[in-house]
Amino acid sequence: MTKTPLGTRVTPIDAAPGRLRLLDQRRLPREEAWIDCGSADAAAEAIRSLAVRGAPLIGVAAAWGLAAEARRLGGAGGSFDATWEAAAARLEKARPTAVNLRSGVERMRGVFRSAAGVPAAERVARLEAEAARFEAEDREACAAMGRHGAEWVAARLGGDPKAPLRVLTHCNAGALATAGIGTALGVVRALAAVRPVAVFADETRPFWQGARLTAWELAKDGIDVTILPDVAAASVIASGKVAVAVVGADRIAANGDVANKVGTYGVALACRAHGVPFVVAAPRTTLDPACPSGRDIPIEWRDGAEVLLLDPSGETPLSVAPEGVPALYPAFDVTPAELVDAIVTEAGVSTAPHAEGLARLLALP
Ligand code: MRU
Repeated sequence: MTKTPLGTRVTPIDAAPGRLRLLDQRRLPREEAWIDCGSADAAAEAIRSLAVRGAPLIGVAAAWGLAAEARRLGGAGGSFDATWEAAAARLEKARPTAVNLRSGVERMRGVFRSAAGVPAAERVARLEAEAARFEAEDREACAAMGRHGAEWVAARLGGDPKAPLRVLTHCNAGALATAGIGTALGVVRALAAVRPVAVFADETRPFWQGARLTAWELAKDGIDVTILPDVAAASVIASGKVAVAVVGADRIAANGDVANKVGTYGVALACRAHGVPFVVAAPRTTLDPACPSGRDIPIEWRDGAEVLLLDPSGETPLSVAPEGVPALYPAFDVTPAELVDAIVTEAGVSTAPHAEGLARLLALP
């Protein structure tokens, strides 16, 4: 398997001391527009509105948002500590399912509190350094997941390495969802570095992360991608056209149950029914040992109105339903651990039983 550095032309965050810019993903693929965030509340609003989304990326954006907040507040004393802590508490609640958001906030809180007595400028510098470290760790984790995942898939599937490998993915777990090459799409990029790969991207209604984002970033990097209506995934899997499904995760419970974008569970069921390996790629910041099982994972319910619109993030959202009829929108679902063949992290791969596999990976340095 390749050891060459894996790359992408796609980057959704541009952050440095005194600067936090986020690519507005609501406007992709129409245009590449950036949002300047000068405070924790601005970062929280970008996260809540899905301008920035994807579990690892919202953790990184939150970390930089808290660094920006410290710089904005500028000085020690007075209400500095209380104001920053209150902003951190609001930011942490911007979305409930992705545990990476909490991981990012907790990392920053630790540094903020341990620097309580130091001069303000030094405290700000320490927070900015921590956000940069957290971002770099995510970038490195993506590269490592790519290599581990590609090795696992190659070993499991074997076959002719010159024939196109058909991979199905759901939602967007790519460069647009991380600080690096992506989780699921990091595995795809690592595979594509050594053999031809053809990706089926579930469109992922109603926000269209697959059709708008996965298709955009893979096409930009020259990786073969075809969009599938979500409702076609099961029959395409049944037809034998999919060699492996690889998805990301927003939170993984201690027993290996996986919360990811709604629709993932159906993909996993179809894969198991038709003997197709189902792989989840996620950094260890997505593992939540405090959640014993998927039942304990908080699932975000978004406004049902988003389901009734053809393009909820577009300029002219078109209503597709009769007026007055409501809709339900659980934004995530939980795939039971027994349907997951492999969980790929930066520290290695867990196979069943995942409770033991994940505990082992979490204990590694
Ligand atoms: O609502 P979103 O777009 O934030 O949901 C994102 C997903 O479900 C991704 O699959 C998940 O965060 C993994 S990202 C590497």
